[in-house]
Amino acid sequence: MTKQRELTEVGVFIPVGNGGWVTSVNAPEIPGTYDYNLQVTLLAEKMGFDFALSPANWRGYGGPTKSWDVSLESLITMAGLAQATKEIGVWATVHMMIFPPAIVAKMVATIDQISNGRVGLNLVSGSNPYDLGQMGLWRDLDHTGRYRLAQEWIDVVQRLWTEERVNHKGDFFELTDCMSNPKPKTIPRTICAGASDRGFQFTIDNCDGSFFPASDDEASIARGVRAKELAVKAGKPDFMTYGLFTLIPGATDAEAKERLEFYDEGADRQALATQAAEYSTDKSAKENFAAQYFLNQNEKVSSVLGGTMTGSVETLARRVAKSVVESKLDGIAIIVPDFIDDLKIVGEQVIPMMAEYGVFTKSQRNL
Ligand SMILES: Cc1cc2nc3c(=O)[nH]c(=O)nc-3n(C[C@H](O)[C@H](O)[C@H](O)COP(=O)(O)O)c2cc1C
Repeated sequence: MTKQRELTEVGVFIPVGNGGWVTSVNAPEIPGTYDYNLQVTLLAEKMGFDFALSPANWRGYGGPTKSWDVSLESLITMAGLAQATKEIGVWATVHMMIFPPAIVAKMVATIDQISNGRVGLNLVSGSNPYDLGQMGLWRDLDHTGRYRLAQEWIDVVQRLWTEERVNHKGDFFELTDCMSNPKPKTIPRTICAGASDRGFQFTIDNCDGSFFPASDDEASIARGVRAKELAVKAGKPDFMTYGLFTLIPGATDAEAKERLEFYDEGADRQALATQAAEYSTDKSAKENFAAQYFLNQNEKVSSVLGGTMTGSVETLARRVAKSVVESKLDGIAIIVPDFIDDLKIVGEQVIPMMAEYGVFTKSQRNL
């Protein structure tokens, strides 16, 4: 029994791309439609989740599963979900490399009104040259250059949210007497999913929280601890860390394991290889966390993301709680194979049971 107690925000990483995050012909069918994502988000809200976050993908990986060949745009999806919900946070992902900052500043200020202050922004620096390059929007920058662009981008957005007129002439963006109204009522929460040391540093300097893959293995726990260490060193004790967990529940540990084995038997090797090939064209692939993560997934021919945990409700509750406590996480985001049936098990059974292992969610705290 873990002694330490933590308070945890809970979110769902919604599947705006067909197939979700199980790249297998044996995976549950995930259509990547707005209607499906609406159902998932309403379910998450009903279960007391704090946020729904959508990723930003522009190009699929094909193969027999047609992995992510159909995917919704993230900001527009969250604007729709903002209107359809009342309490849950609606967080969108934006590629800073492709959206001019003034466009996003105004789009997010608009969603701030639609959602009555529930909008959040996950900033991504860009890591797949094909995904953005197909639209002529990939900038030939190395890892350091991408974070230089990111810094200029967020500086401009923050100014547009707070200043009446912005003049700016930088290396990447130019604004002349730029007026951006309405202002958001409160400055939207920003997180960043950069998981390299440079990515963490950018996030700590500019955002409210960091978002990275989590699990109960040593490397994942070290990643969480490292993010917290960097935040404390930077004098930001309130900085939030969010771990992204992929969970496969089963009636028993054995049944959950069999589910994963079944998915792996049908792993879409073609889609995984395409994904790895695309990421490996980044000239900074070695420093690019996402590239390394997907190259590794391809090498293992794994249908699921690294660190995926399988188990009964009790096992998952214990393992996620252990990860939260040892990685010092403030929040978790969930991926499951089926975002209705499996999400219900996680929301109604696994998360409440984590209290037995010392991890309480916000809604439990309010009881
Ligand atoms: C949990 C997580 C979610 C991410 N979501 C997206 C996404 O939706 N779209 C995208 O292009 N990149 C996404 N990325 C990639 C990162 O934003 C980032 O560009 C990449 O990891 C390279 O930066 P880094 O080396 O600092 O981590 C994600 C990464 C992580 C770890």
